Amino acid sequence: VTGDLRAAASHFRFGENWAGFARAIDEERLALAVQSLARILPADLLSERTMLDIGSGSGLSAVAALRLGARHVTAIDIDRDSVATTAATLARFAAPASFTVREASILELPAGGGYDIVHSWGVLHHTGDLPAALQAAARHVAPGGRLVLSLYRRTPLDRLWIAEKRLYTHGPRWLPPVIRSLFKGAYLAAIAVTGRNPIRYVHEYPRERGMSWSHDVHDWLGGYPYEPIDTAELVARLGPLGFVSEQLIERPVRARGLFGAPCNEYRLARKAAA
Ligand SMILES: C[S@@+](CC[C@H](N)C(=O)[O-])C[C@H]1O[C@@H](n2cnc3c(N)ncnc32)[C@H](O)[C@@H]1O
Repeated sequence: VTGDLRAAASHFRFGENWAGFARAIDEERLALAVQSLARILPADLLSERTMLDIGSGSGLSAVAALRLGARHVTAIDIDRDSVATTAATLARFAAPASFTVREASILELPAGGGYDIVHSWGVLHHTGDLPAALQAAARHVAPGGRLVLSLYRRTPLDRLWIAEKRLYTHGPRWLPPVIRSLFKGAYLAAIAVTGRNPIRYVHEYPRERGMSWSHDVHDWLGGYPYEPIDTAELVARLGPLGFVSEQLIERPVRARGLFGAPCNEYRLARKAAA
């Protein structure tokens, strides 16, 4: 695979997956998404605030933010299918609240006056240039505002997964279904071995932000480009830009990352202008 990793053409077709997932969005999933967003971004921080949602995907987080009282949400995504899906999800579940949806890359978004909240869930590690994406996201936070991120953490198997994701995204068309079946079989077998019921696991999976296991597996296996980061490095990058960590939800790496990497969640505050 050659070419610019920052360009949509080199990326996994995230939007196609989110279009499929969006068909399953209902009030029950939305309530779970609202609950989960409120854990890292409570309503008192969102209420009457503006928010930029970078990499909006299905649009679920954008709707959740509006339901928690945001004054206006601007959703951007580099993938045309994600943009269309976000617009449809917002029209269906958030109207008449105030929102804008745009096809844009965070790496190229012109800086404006700044948003009270910049939110980006599981995105910046897929932009093809994580350091630049962190800087760009930070630049859009108004003084005194918040940056809310979810980012894959490093595991001992990162190199293996990068190779797999590249192949899944750019290899022969017959390969992804094969990899997916093997992964799903091994994953559910591992759950059974630890004494849990795999059927119940899949059934209860939406508790995780209202998401679907099948779509999340496809997203994990295909999510390319991929650049995980650990907390210390994130804080070292954002500290000099005037950010202090306010809340961290750290998830453990299981089985050395054999079944995927967990995402850490961060809320950082940008110091108010002196
Ligand atoms: C794993 S999905 C996450 C979607 C959504 N935030 C969620 O939590 O379900 C990553 C999304 O980021 C988008 N993305 C990747 N690079 C981007 C960039 N440079 N600028 C904006 N969005 C980008 C992808 O198109 C995709 O929709």
